Amino acid sequence: MKAARREDDRMLSINVAGMELRNPTMLASGFLGISQAIFNRLYNADIGAIVSKSISDEPIKGYDNPTAVCLEGGSYLNAVGLTNPGAEAFSREIRHNEFVPIIVSLVGSSCQDFPPIINKLDELNILGYEVNLSCPHVAKMGMEVGDDLDMVTSVVKTVKSHTIKPVIVKVGIGNVGLLDLARAACDAGANAITAINTIRAMCINIESALPVLSNRIGGLSGKSVKPIAIRCVYEISKTVGVPVIGCGGIFSWEDAVEFMLAGASAIQLSSVIGHDGIGTFRKINLGVKKYLERKGLKNLSELVGLAHRF
Ligand SMILES: Cc1cc2nc3c(=O)[nH]c(=O)nc-3n(C[C@H](O)[C@H](O)[C@H](O)COP(=O)(O)O)c2cc1C
Repeated sequence: MKAARREDDRMLSINVAGMELRNPTMLASGFLGISQAIFNRLYNADIGAIVSKSISDEPIKGYDNPTAVCLEGGSYLNAVGLTNPGAEAFSREIRHNEFVPIIVSLVGSSCQDFPPIINKLDELNILGYEVNLSCPHVAKMGMEVGDDLDMVTSVVKTVKSHTIKPVIVKVGIGNVGLLDLARAACDAGANAITAINTIRAMCINIESALPVLSNRIGGLSGKSVKPIAIRCVYEISKTVGVPVIGCGGIFSWEDAVEFMLAGASAIQLSSVIGHDGIGTFRKINLGVKKYLERKGLKNLSELVGLAHRF
């Protein structure tokens, strides 16, 4: 079934690093992220853009179960292990994409890993890339790359030199200073920053006296990470000159507005999808639009970073 093209709502449209989005809501990397049929459904559910599951050149099997656990109050812990079908299979999946705005998340453990992925995807109908430098639970990938600022510089320069599409860098709470990481990514040419990924965390079952996840350590997401993510977006957007995309614990239009006040030009949703389904995108867009009208703001750009004035 073909997804119907919806009319742009000018009040909610925003340009993020050269990417024209009809609204600021994106699917965050990881959830629902590898099937064109689901991308079409999400587009019909009023999404602004989709970030794919992180794609490596070769397929990754990921960890054994249990890979995810639902915590109290809308938080999750996961260590899926960057499971993905590899760049070749993913490029076949989206090769007939006509109109869904797809951003491909890239993951690798060395500079050489990235050009082969881009070569398989760059000719397709995709908006750009998000480089995952922040997954907190896979050896030699994600955060382990992001924790090495020289690697960050080389990876971002390598990706930039293989595409003319916008390159977003996704950061998180690792072992280097967050602002040093964001600065290094931008100095190397990143066109936008996404903040944040899941935060390294753990649960132990008190009856079995064993860690709950097969990988033992996982990443915390959902409501409990939101204030940390807001702080990160606020600080990064004050520091770098590129757009920031907010992610972490966004469950409602109020959360979306808070991220934009902190400096986010767009927002990504992940855990909420498991909680409330894909109807959330339309609800958030509607709520943000009503908020803009109530506050007498003409468009989203007038909202972005408003909290910086104090
Ligand atoms: C099950 C699961 C899988 C994820 N996989 C990825 C991934 O492949 N790449 C990535 O950059 N982030 C991944 N993330 C992190 C999310 O994109 C997001 O940054 C994080 O969950 C915080 O947002 P939330 O609180 O709205 O869930 C994953 C998160 C979850 C819960």
